[in-house]
This record gives sequence, C-alpha cells and structure tokens, in this order.
Amino acid sequence: MAPSGDNVVVSNIKLEKMLSMKGGKGEASYVNNSEAQAKHARSMLHLLRETLDGVPLSSPESTFVVADLGCSCGSNTIYMVEVIIKHMTDRYQAAGYEAPPEFSAFFSDLPSNDFNTLFQLLPPYGGASMEECLASDTRRSYFAAGVPGSFYRRLFPANSVDVFYSAFSLHWLSQVPDEVVDKRSTAYNKGRIFIHGANESTAIAYKKQYQSDLAGFLGSRSKEMKRGGSMFLVCLGRTCSDPTDQGGAGLLFGTHFQDAWDDLVQEGLISSEKRDNFNIPVYAASLEEFKEVVEADGSFMIKKLEVFGGGSPLVVNHPDDSAEIGRALANSCRSVSGVLVDAHIGDKLSDQLFSRVATRATTHAKDLQEKLHFFHIVASLSLA
Ligand SMILES: C[S@@+](CC[C@H](N)C(=O)[O-])C[C@H]1O[C@@H](n2cnc3c(N)ncnc32)[C@H](O)[C@@H]1O
Repeated sequence: MAPSGDNVVVSNIKLEKMLSMKGGKGEASYVNNSEAQAKHARSMLHLLRETLDGVPLSSPESTFVVADLGCSCGSNTIYMVEVIIKHMTDRYQAAGYEAPPEFSAFFSDLPSNDFNTLFQLLPPYGGASMEECLASDTRRSYFAAGVPGSFYRRLFPANSVDVFYSAFSLHWLSQVPDEVVDKRSTAYNKGRIFIHGANESTAIAYKKQYQSDLAGFLGSRSKEMKRGGSMFLVCLGRTCSDPTDQGGAGLLFGTHFQDAWDDLVQEGLISSEKRDNFNIPVYAASLEEFKEVVEADGSFMIKKLEVFGGGSPLVVNHPDDSAEIGRALANSCRSVSGVLVDAHIGDKLSDQLFSRVATRATTHAKDLQEKLHFFHIVASLSLA
C-alpha cells in the first residue's frame, strides 16, 4: 500500500521502492487497464519471433532461461512468456530434437509490484511429462519465479539468461532528476509535472537521466546474458527530435493530467509547490538517443531497431461515448501513475485529481481519439 500522502513528497531515493502499476483488480488497476499494451505487444509478435529465430539452440540438457523485465501484474507478461517458450519449443522440434529443454521463466519487477496478483494468474505447472504440459492450455510448461529489483542494476547471476524480454517499461526512469525538483536549479520544472512542454534545462536533465539509466541497464544485462542470447525491448519512443515534445506520452501526462493538477492548485486544494514537486519519471526517447547509448556502451549489437507506430492507450467499447473515453483516459493514466500520485497527495486528493482528468478528457473525447497515439522503440539486441 502507498504511504499516506498529506505531507509526503515522493523522494528520489524512495522511487524504486514504491513505483508500481496500480495493483489488485479494481477499476483503475493495471490488470484492468492494460489491454492496449496487450494489443501493441501482439502487433509486434513477428518482430519478437524474428529475434527468437536468432537464438542458437543449446543442448536440451541445459535449462533455457527467459526473463521478463518490468513484467507488472497482468496477464500480458504470462502471454508473452508463453509465446517465447512455445516458439523455442517449436524450433527444437523442427530441428529434430527428441524433447525440448526444461524452461525457466523469471518475472521481474520492482519490489512493490503486485506479484501476488501475478502469481494467482499463473496456471499450475505441468502434467506427467513435458509433452503433456506443452500440449495443455491450462498448464504451464515452465518453472516460474519472481525477481524483485530494479532492472537498472544486476538481477541475475552472470551468464545465466537466454532471452530477455521487456515491454512498456524502459521509459520509466530510475528517478526524477534531482535538478528538476530543485528550486535553485534552472532545470526546476516550475508549473509542470512532466517534461512535455518544459524548458530546455529540464529536458537536458531528463535526457541525462535516461542516458545513465539505459547505460546501467545495458551494463547489467551484458553480464547476465548467455553468449548467443537475445534481448527484445519495447519502450515508449518519440518521432520528434525535441524531447519536450513527448508525443503520445505528452498527451497522456502533459495535457488533461497537467490541467487537473492546475485545477487542484487553483481551487486551493494543494499549493503550487506541492504540484511542482511532483514529476512523472518517464522519458520517451528518440531512436537516435536510444542508439547513441547502445553504441556508447558497446556491449550489444543492434540486430533490429525501429520506431513502431500506431497504438492508442484508449480501449473502449463505445467509441462515440465521450464519458467512456474520459473514464478510459483517467483510468489508464491512474493505472500507471496512480501509486505515485497517491503517495504524493494522498488517496482522497488523488480521487479528486483523476475525476478532474476524466471530466476534462470527456470534454475533449473526440480530439483525444484522433490524436492519442503512441510510438514505440522496438529493439532486438545480442551480445557484441
Ligand atoms: C506499463 S508496465 C509494463 C507491464 C508489462 N510489461 C506489459 O507488457 O503489460 C511497466 C512496468 O515497469 C516496471 N518498472 C519501472 N521501472 C522499473 C525498474 N527500474 N526496474 C524494474 N521494473 C521497473 C513498473 O513497475 C511496471 O510494472
């Protein structure tokens, strides 16, 4: 549960201890608001399969290890892990092996992730034989374990993982850059709660944080990945070279969400300083920025790198129903940022904030449907 919020400022030190998507199975939970991510991931399956085709088949005597980094707590991660294992199994079969190796899947996320909900969704392991569980839809054919910790640091033993998968997670920074919440700094993000539309110094601070975080991620994975292994990464990206235009993420966090924070200030419910101390630790990078960090690190070869467009976070049953669109935007925003907001201003004000997001988004429903689209960086990397 998030700490009670009245006088709590989300301190940078605590971010990795408290960040998570909204747990449980409530209206604004990640479980109930991640259909868009499921759709986006499924539209990229052909790219994932291409990556997996490049992984050499090792001896079936050794365990084949898959890790999902930033797995969160819905069924998306289970679905993707199953796709990976099924694809590798098919490859072993096609190559004439009598039986595939045993598979091990690690579900990794920050310690506050709702691992309980995730584990409850996991089907039970196995049948009498590997063949039986592979043939079953209600059984899992792999051993499962949760790994709590930040993917910006080491999570696994050296040389132990065959396939790393990470979707919709690497745009989360390890912290809000210190300068961005330092009143004395030119990077102080006065009046804003996100990099979108911020000044140049704020943008530079966010970008530096992104670069050092991604370098930490690559350095750790380069030690953990088995030679011949592969990494498939999907994270929010942007098509504009200017980082203060965060594209879809800018619309999600920088317009109605921003305005709702301003409402709370104008209505005297929070001080402007309280708002200014809150910043969303997300950075949608450009392809070039991503590539620069991978090349500077030098541990990985880029097998594939592209910006994949088109996904919207708004999944609604009635596209003409403005109120449903308003609620979908508010729930979608709350499912990913709600834990941080609750910790910063408390649950009651958080309710008020997100109900204002819903109202504002309802008024702009048509516009949102037209304009709210995400671009993702999709990368396939293997050890250099
Ligand atoms: C939007 S969810 C993605 C969930 C899932 N991969 C999917 O496809 O639906 C982003 C996840 O990244 C996790 N995350 C953010 N920063 C992280 C970090 N430094 N280390 C590990 N996980 C992190 C969050 O806790 C969250 O569960």
